[in-house]
Amino acid sequence: MPNYIIRPSPALQGEVQINTSKNAVLPIMAASLLCNTPVTLHDVPGLTDVDNMAQVLIACGAAVKREGRRMTIRAESLHQPLDAEAVHKLRASILILGPLCARLGDAEVPLPGGCAIGQRPIDIHLRGLHALGAVASQENCLASAHGRLRGNTIYLDFPSVGATENLMMAAALANGNTRIENAAKEPEIVDLADFLIRCGAKIMGAGTGTVIIEGVPTLQGTEYTPIPDRIEAGTLACAAAITEGSVFLSGARADHLRALLFKLREMGMIVQEDALGLRLRGRAKRGADVRTLSYPGFPTDLQAPMMTVCCKAAGQSIFLETIFENRYMHAVALCRMGADIRTEGRMAVVHGGRPLYGAAVEATDLRAGAALMLAGMAAEGETRLSDEGGHINRGYEQLDEKLRMLGAQIVTVSHPAPLTNAAR
Ligand code: UD1
Repeated sequence: MPNYIIRPSPALQGEVQINTSKNAVLPIMAASLLCNTPVTLHDVPGLTDVDNMAQVLIACGAAVKREGRRMTIRAESLHQPLDAEAVHKLRASILILGPLCARLGDAEVPLPGGCAIGQRPIDIHLRGLHALGAVASQENCLASAHGRLRGNTIYLDFPSVGATENLMMAAALANGNTRIENAAKEPEIVDLADFLIRCGAKIMGAGTGTVIIEGVPTLQGTEYTPIPDRIEAGTLACAAAITEGSVFLSGARADHLRALLFKLREMGMIVQEDALGLRLRGRAKRGADVRTLSYPGFPTDLQAPMMTVCCKAAGQSIFLETIFENRYMHAVALCRMGADIRTEGRMAVVHGGRPLYGAAVEATDLRAGAALMLAGMAAEGETRLSDEGGHINRGYEQLDEKLRMLGAQIVTVSHPAPLTNAAR
């Protein structure tokens, strides 16, 4: 697994291309199981989570062929996942529950893994499938849904992204009309709906709190390019903010990043939006208060990189993490590097403007890993970031390489390098 030696970075300069979104690609791959004919996806990013999802689809009987950044998925004949280990490797494998139940009338999915950022129950997925007529349950580390699906009105207790996606996919082939109330509004939901509509589904209202799906008997494959990754773009924007850089994020969509861009402007950054991407200049001079919320609120996936920015910006910043209950693991490592952060439950108070110092730190989860890479760039001395869990590559394709292209001083090594005095 890669480990990183990070030295103080100059102001980042230049242009990088933003990949297609991990969180859009994974549900679209799962949705391909609904199609009787081949799906071809373009610009598929090289991520461990994408590879793992491909294994999950293969375990269900699909044929997945990858040629460079193009992926073809054939799901003519399906069965229950035979390889439980493939399913365990990623949290998003729960997204096959809806499609398998819709196609086979029967789905059994071993409960998934993923980042240890909270309990991550699946009750909203199961209650939704139950409302669609399935006998849905979770027992002995197995989620199951059996029965023919028929449309219904479903109210989600919380606008869960995954549950909205699972239920949209299930309802696409259900008998009759489904109305999902309090649905998630994330851009990835809209992208999944756009993909399904291209396959022949009838979906209205994606991106609003009410999604209406008119079930159809079959879906046919299509060609599709998912949306750009707003979290990769946001992480690189934070990297620019922390180094006083001037960076162009090609392909980044400002309309998907409103909450972050609003904060970065408030903190002193210059943000220019155009049709081709986003330019960020300057430094985050002042801290900001950040409350993570469902879209269009501030994304929980950018909380960790933003906290690193606030460690360097002057003044106090208050964070409130309302989505996941255990998402401040990076704060411990940032404190080891000299940051002043106090956490109390879902709240974290950052006293910024203090120097950061290189240290030996560990990527405990995907976004925490990225946040620590950024911290190393802003720290004095050498930071040794160990990622033995391979978290960063699960969701960022060559983040180290992209940052290097912009001038960051990051050396990637395959084994943890021995500690020197510089890395305390
Ligand atoms: C997705 C994203 C993840 C992002 C998250 C929130 C993907 C592959 N992952 O995860 O990067 O951080 O949205 O924006 O798209 N919950 C329940 N019961 C459920 C489902 C969820 O209580 O049945 C809770 C979760 O524990 C969590 C909150 O709802 O506290 C949000 O979860 P959800 O929106 O479902 O996130 P994911 O779809 O897992």
